[in-house]
Amino acid sequence: MQGEAVPPRVPTPRRYLMCPPRYFAVDYAINPWMDPSKPVSADVAVAQWTELRDTYRRLGHTVEEIDPQPGLPDMVFAANSGTVVDGRVLGSRFRAPQRAAEAEHFRRWFLEHGYRDLTMPEKINEAEGDFAWTGKLLLAGTGFRTDPAAHAEAQEVLGVPVVSLQLIDPRYYHLDTALFVLAEATDTATAQVVYYPEAFSPGSQRVLRRMFPDAVLATAADAECFGLNGVSDGRNVVLPVEATDLGARLAERGYEPVYVDISELRKAGGGPKCCTLEIRK
Ligand code: ARG
Repeated sequence: MQGEAVPPRVPTPRRYLMCPPRYFAVDYAINPWMDPSKPVSADVAVAQWTELRDTYRRLGHTVEEIDPQPGLPDMVFAANSGTVVDGRVLGSRFRAPQRAAEAEHFRRWFLEHGYRDLTMPEKINEAEGDFAWTGKLLLAGTGFRTDPAAHAEAQEVLGVPVVSLQLIDPRYYHLDTALFVLAEATDTATAQVVYYPEAFSPGSQRVLRRMFPDAVLATAADAECFGLNGVSDGRNVVLPVEATDLGARLAERGYEPVYVDISELRKAGGGPKCCTLEIRK
């Protein structure tokens, strides 16, 4: 790039919790991507998921695994089952009855792995599907899944500031389909995010512009392939293989795009981030 210095991007090692999609299926439709009349393959889903897990390990991250359960085809989307900040865990409560039982399996996993500071929410809360940690505060989506009252509950339980954002496009029903954090910072203004503005209400777009004047703005095409469902370690950004335009723009800012094929998982309305619950300590 001409004249413009690209800051060095520093990755930090992460700890993730993932669930292999052994019982993956699209038997019901709770978002516009799901069509139960179309065929899906659990074997293909497992192969794609395995590649995603191995990609994280190759990048130096730790991946823990929770056992999948028959009858819970969406359990692969671990991001919806917990929000962990500073070792404090806020569990989840699903909007759809078809997913309700997942929350308890994850609650047990956390307890069995030594996470004693765990609270199960009273309000509907789809965890990291709607919560994104910037290093200083939680950005919180609502409009389709997580109850706005769960934002206040998260602030109280986790003891971190929460900023509510209104989602308005049913295809981008979780915050993590419309925004992700590229680089965390304890100072909000220097945290780097990428988002698709049209997924948010006009007021929330103004909030995002104010908080992140230097954000990367995604296009409709970036969003449609689930490019906003990326996972960044501060340098390496795991993206769906179709998101090459977005990847190229991130590369100009010093990030390293790492592509994975998630085409089978997308049939359930999920991508890399949906499969990935980050355990922050
Ligand atoms: N089929 C799942 C649902 O509709 C997909 C969840 C995707 N997860 C996410 N973090 N966006 O609940």
